[in-house]
Amino acid sequence: MSLRFAILTVSDRSFHGQREDKAGPALADAVAQRGWQVVARGVVPDDFAAIRAALLAWCDQDEADVILTTGGTGFAPRDVTPEATRSILEREAPGLAEAMRAASLRITPHAMLSRAVAGIRGRVLIVNLPGSPKAAVENFAVIADVLPHAVQLLREAPDAEQGHAHPHHG
Ligand code: MTE
Repeated sequence: MSLRFAILTVSDRSFHGQREDKAGPALADAVAQRGWQVVARGVVPDDFAAIRAALLAWCDQDEADVILTTGGTGFAPRDVTPEATRSILEREAPGLAEAMRAASLRITPHAMLSRAVAGIRGRVLIVNLPGSPKAAVENFAVIADVLPHAVQLLREAPDAEQGHAHPHHG
C-alpha cells in the first residue's frame, strides 16, 4: 500500500541554521526503506504558532496520509510540539504514543520524558517523534507496521473529506 508522508523537523537550532537537521533526513530514509513516499519536508522553530501553521497547511492541502514531527516533545521550556499538535487534532490516537513509549522504555528510561502525542485530523494521521535521529527512527520503527491499516481505515472514513472531517450526528 502506498503511503504519503510529510516530515516536520521542530528545532530552533535547525531552523536558524545553527545545527544541521539530521532527524528529518533519517526519518525520510526510514520511510523510503519501507517503499513509502515523502511528499513534503519542513523545518520550523520550537514555536507553537509555527508548528501549528505547518501542520494545518499540510492537513488542509490533503498532501499526506501521515505527518511525522520530530523534536520538541521533552521537558525543555520551549518543547511545545505536543501542545501545538493537540491544538489541531480532531481525535487523539493515544495507543500509538503509548506503544512508542513502552517500546522505548526497553531502550532508555528517558523514554518516560517523551510527551509525544498522536491523532487524527480529517484523513491525516499526525505522530510526534523525539528529536534525536536515533530516537526518531527507533520510535518510527515501533509504529510503522500498523500505518498501512491505519491509513486504510482513514481513507474509508465516510465523514472525512479533503482533510476536513464533517461529522454528522443524527
Ligand atoms: N526513545 C527512544 N526510542 N530512544 C531514545 O533515545 N530519547 C528520549 C525520549 N525517547 C529516546 C526516546 C529522550 S532523551 C527525550 S528527552 C524524549 O524522548 C523527548 O525527546 P525530544 O525532546 O527530543 O522530543
